[in-house]
Amino acid sequence: MTNNNIYFIANWKMYGDLSSLNSIKKVISLKKQKKFKKAKIVYCPPNIIVNEFIKYTKYTNISVGSQDCYFIDGTGPYTGNISAYQLKKLGVNYVIAGHSEKRLDGDTDKLINKKVLNILSNNLHVILCIGESLKDKKNKKTLSVIRKQLSTCLKEVKKSHKIIIAYEPIWSIGSGIIPSPKELDKTIKYIKQFLSKKFKNNKSKILYGGSVNQKNINILKNTKGINGFLIGGASQTSNKFIDIIKKTIN
Ligand code: PGA
Repeated sequence: MTNNNIYFIANWKMYGDLSSLNSIKKVISLKKQKKFKKAKIVYCPPNIIVNEFIKYTKYTNISVGSQDCYFIDGTGPYTGNISAYQLKKLGVNYVIAGHSEKRLDGDTDKLINKKVLNILSNNLHVILCIGESLKDKKNKKTLSVIRKQLSTCLKEVKKSHKIIIAYEPIWSIGSGIIPSPKELDKTIKYIKQFLSKKFKNNKSKILYGGSVNQKNINILKNTKGINGFLIGGASQTSNKFIDIIKKTIN
């Protein structure tokens, strides 16, 4: 863990509705405490309530993100889609791209690259998810899969200061299983090296995601070189989310 800001990004996936706003009250008051100044809290609720989240968190230090955007920017005849440009206009600051659950819908590295470029051209932070499948891991292909994902998804990206890489092994998401500290250190180190080579003045951040919870956080927070966590299930209950934040920053 670094000494700088620590990210706690809540990915609510396809959960939550207007009544969920109530549950973030406790997190807002936690964030007001001086002790948690370096906690960078970002909520990524479903798009149907993004606007309410923005209004609700307006005078707090909590940011709001979206879980995805379309690969074409601006506006146009694309039924059912939302562009990075539209999210920016709404007041969103972060957009996730390449989550493995979107990759299951057909998002390829090439398509994700288009999304990444759109997100950055709108001056938003991108949370780019990468990670290997269980089969890749068993075949000892973790690092080569990651290299391919990073090089294609970040093609033509020149600046690093708005880039957040979330390393999320697919086999860890929602499974309760996390990589061993040794495995995780090795992968994070590799990602860092890749980014330092790609960007001259590397300012990108690296997060870990996949089954982060109140129990394993004491192990995960010791991972060298990470800047925080992308949290799914455990971020939907404020008590669990707060517990994770408190245990990380103590
Ligand atoms: P999880 O999800 O914490 O529920 O495993 C993480 C994610 O999918 O971003």
